[in-house]
Amino acid sequence: MVATSVTSRQTGPNSGMSFLLRTRGVIRRFGGVVAVDDVSIDVRCGEIAGLIGPNGAGKTTLFNLITGLDQPDHGTIEFDRRDITTTPAHRLVDLGIARTFQNIRLLDELSVADNVKVACHRSICYTTIHALLRLPRFFREERRIAARCREFLDLFDLGPVCDDTAGSLAYGQRRKLEIARALATGARLLLLDEPAAGMNPQETRDLMDMIRRINSEFKISILLIEHDMKLVMCICDHLFVMDHGKLIAGGTPDDVRQNPKVIEAYLGRRSTSNCP
Ligand SMILES: Nc1ncnc2c1ncn2[C@@H]1O[C@H](COP(=O)(O)OP(=O)(O)OP(=O)(O)O)[C@@H](O)[C@H]1O
Ligand SMILES: [Mg+2]
Repeated sequence: MVATSVTSRQTGPNSGMSFLLRTRGVIRRFGGVVAVDDVSIDVRCGEIAGLIGPNGAGKTTLFNLITGLDQPDHGTIEFDRRDITTTPAHRLVDLGIARTFQNIRLLDELSVADNVKVACHRSICYTTIHALLRLPRFFREERRIAARCREFLDLFDLGPVCDDTAGSLAYGQRRKLEIARALATGARLLLLDEPAAGMNPQETRDLMDMIRRINSEFKISILLIEHDMKLVMCICDHLFVMDHGKLIAGGTPDDVRQNPKVIEAYLGRRSTSNCP
């Protein structure tokens, strides 16, 4: 199978680029539907990459394959030069891949703080014995986790609602909490599936700032699916465009904006270059 050749990067041995995520010739079929059809993408260390395309293009399916919730029928997926094609989701979190979902998934009965603490506890450095005997390491670690949790909540302006249950939050806050929780796993690669969906314009602008901060302050690479073209065009270093399962274009936002295939498939006249 020949990989689709629209990754738009020099990926040869002399390219000097460092890729965190790489898919090659990935295919996923559901009956007669080829949801992901021979897709090859590279996400570079430290960049914000966008995955766009019309409804049903295969974007979420590709995310499911990358994050181990589903496995490809064909092709390979590499993270940090390690083959993760068949690695289960929980192992991928340990390796440093975290995601959010198109339909928000939170522990609704738990407090906002506890939703983030659960994710922070993946990095915990004490044993059951330390906890049962209340040894100093237990308290030290719990203080570290509480401080880290606070840092994430403050970053997303969720400090004032930290004791509320996740289920009681407004929609935009729930989206932010889901990102905070993904970040708290210690991720190096964050996949965001339509993070701005359902947000009002102000919330979307705040979210853009937060995504930029996550990327620069925490040195986290981000791959995001988004239908909000303004957000995508303004914050992404690189874009991939899917249509009917296939990767039809890849490049900088300016390249993609002018690509006739993309205009025909998706952007039409809705493209905008007015970054805030
Ligand atoms: N589990 C599944 N079983 C059968 N078909 C599926 C399954 N998951 C996805 N599909 C089909 O695969 C195609 C791609 O779906 P996918 O959800 O990946 O698209 P998408 O690009 O994320 O769309 P949207 O922008 O609407 O979220 C669609 O035709 C969808 O109906
Ligand atoms: Mg989707």
